[in-house]
Amino acid sequence: MKKNIFKKSLLGIMLPAFFLAQISCAQKSVKTLKTAYKKDFVMGVAIGTEHILEKDAKANEIIKSEFNGITAENIMKAEVIHPQWDKYNFDLSDKFIELGQKNKMYITGHTLVWHSQLPPFIRRNNNKDSVQTFMRNHIATVAGRYAGKIDSWDVVNEALEEDGTLRKSVYLKTLGEGYIQEAFELAAKADPKAALYYNDYNIEQPAKRKGAIEIVKKLKAAGVKIDGVGIQGHWSINTLNLQEIEDAIVDFSKLGVKVAFTELDLTVLPNPWDMKGADVNQSYKNSPQMNPYTAGMPDSVGVVLAQKYEDLFKLFLKHKDSISRITFWGVNDGHSWLNGFPIRGRVNYPLLFDRNYEKKKAYFSVLNLKK
Ligand code: XIL
Repeated sequence: MKKNIFKKSLLGIMLPAFFLAQISCAQKSVKTLKTAYKKDFVMGVAIGTEHILEKDAKANEIIKSEFNGITAENIMKAEVIHPQWDKYNFDLSDKFIELGQKNKMYITGHTLVWHSQLPPFIRRNNNKDSVQTFMRNHIATVAGRYAGKIDSWDVVNEALEEDGTLRKSVYLKTLGEGYIQEAFELAAKADPKAALYYNDYNIEQPAKRKGAIEIVKKLKAAGVKIDGVGIQGHWSINTLNLQEIEDAIVDFSKLGVKVAFTELDLTVLPNPWDMKGADVNQSYKNSPQMNPYTAGMPDSVGVVLAQKYEDLFKLFLKHKDSISRITFWGVNDGHSWLNGFPIRGRVNYPLLFDRNYEKKKAYFSVLNLKK
């Protein structure tokens, strides 16, 4: 009898321990994007306010289990973080950093100098001193506050036109082309440890790529710190050009900088005007032809999307030594900015997780490249 009790209590201890061990083993071995690509590059995701405030349990789970990098989709842009001359708004950005630290993630600050999403007082300012003061204060204050906590900064965003010349932004018009160098110098001073990136869309395309190469070369020649080039990667399943992307990876890495794909998504919707890229100021009218999949994405389109993502990630893996990070621009299809850009009110399917947070075929085509 005594023996039996002993046996039972021993079993009582051993069995749960055995099952716990099984569960923790299973947890460890669950393959997710970040575990599968751990040795290759950071797998990042752009997150919005609802994610930073951890309001959405399903999204939280995906962000934490699938990704090891985060970028702030909007809340570190000047119009949000620096709305008035002497007023900064750090509530959400502080929480964004805490979230990244808590989950041991690679944190990207987006973005210090950009012509878009600027506060009204600077948007159309044509006074050199004002714009210079704004830029200096902005970089010193924002990058300074998070010094040592941010892993990389998109220092200058979208400074180029499609032909590779400099964009006629408020910065170029008031400060001249030297503003790019000054922005990088100020960022390096404010946060010496962060990796500093030049970020843009369509810079895989030859003419614009040439412009980006010039920017990197000039900074390097002047002895200014620049660590990488961010290719945004807002592409389409209909026009994805792998050769250009490969050429761009090779060209940029020859300059001695890393390449990151910073805002990856693949639109599945038609763009008959052949509008390439992501100029946020472009917008067009909605119509049934432009919004064909309101009832769901057809399987045939899902297959193409999965194939394009597979092709892309094969290329990324081939060049993994040159690539630091791949960041998806949004958590799931419902969250994607491509439901509103370049036409408002469409239903798009550009990411790896669907509106119900389920993994799409495209998710598995990326994951299964890693055995
Ligand atoms: C987009 C955001 O995703 C949208 O929510 C916002 O309304 C507009 O900006 N290039 C960039 C990003 O560098 O900051 C843009 O993000 C997409 C294009």
